[in-house]
Amino acid sequence: MEILHTVAELRNWSRTHRSAGYTIALVPTLGALHAGHASLIRAAAASCDAVAVSIFVNPTQFGPNEDYARYPRTFDADCSIAQSEGATVVFAPSVEEIYPAGKATFVEVEGLSSRLDGKSRPGHFRGVATVVAKLFIAAEPNRAFFGQKDAAQVAILRRMTSDLLLPVELVICPIIRDPDGLALSSRNIYLSPAERTRALLLSRAVRHVESLVASGERRPNKLIEATLDLFAPEPTIRIDYIAVVDWATLLPVETATPGTLFAIAAYVGPTRLIDNTILA
Ligand code: PAJ
Repeated sequence: MEILHTVAELRNWSRTHRSAGYTIALVPTLGALHAGHASLIRAAAASCDAVAVSIFVNPTQFGPNEDYARYPRTFDADCSIAQSEGATVVFAPSVEEIYPAGKATFVEVEGLSSRLDGKSRPGHFRGVATVVAKLFIAAEPNRAFFGQKDAAQVAILRRMTSDLLLPVELVICPIIRDPDGLALSSRNIYLSPAERTRALLLSRAVRHVESLVASGERRPNKLIEATLDLFAPEPTIRIDYIAVVDWATLLPVETATPGTLFAIAAYVGPTRLIDNTILA
């Protein structure tokens, strides 16, 4: 497995492989790879001939009071995981490579970017859309792999890819969880043992809502109330949002139907966690 640092190297790699008839997959990541990322790389390797994994802690998607500086950076371990899951190259650019001096161009997905996580993290989705557009332009992949874990991010990237006429197919992979249900996240390492136990409420809420819907409940306010009841005994968890929304527009629905997104974000101690399910 090769490690590439410049856009020119990545583009050259991609074009060489494409002209030889290979299909190219891109798996964008912030690094600190875990089994969730590994599942994306595996899916990419199963569906395409050559796989690029990008590892880039993208400064523009972190707010001024967020964890950019202390975000876990585990490059050597990441490369071993990428290689063992079937990556062909790792793309690890510098900040200057992605954001040249004097940069003045950003990608803004209007409306969508200020809903769900975008509401409490202003500018976050502008940073995500901008970096992913740049990665698509640099890597020219046939397919790009993302996790349903970040469901609002998926909605924004689908809209962006469609609006900018980018010739990339987005493949969305299921949420990978620890055996006790906690959705894997690079930020789980911030949790103390007591916080980690409390954090299980998010996945419990997701399962509870799934079972309510399975038993016929379709009213969003009832699903939200039931979730609030579940969190009531844990006042130390600060809920950011509980949403029952259309997955494409991220706007509230009147009735939950198959494909409706139930999503939740909450602060467990200082750590912001998210979880979701696509209702059946
Ligand atoms: P990051 O948080 O590193 O996640 C990279 C990809 O892994 C995303 O598509 C995310 O949804 C997926 N992922 C994370 N946890 C997962 C889990 N438990 N199960 C399945 N997939 C999971 O998301 C980002 O990076 C960035 O915003 C990025 C798209 C790379 C742009 O900088």
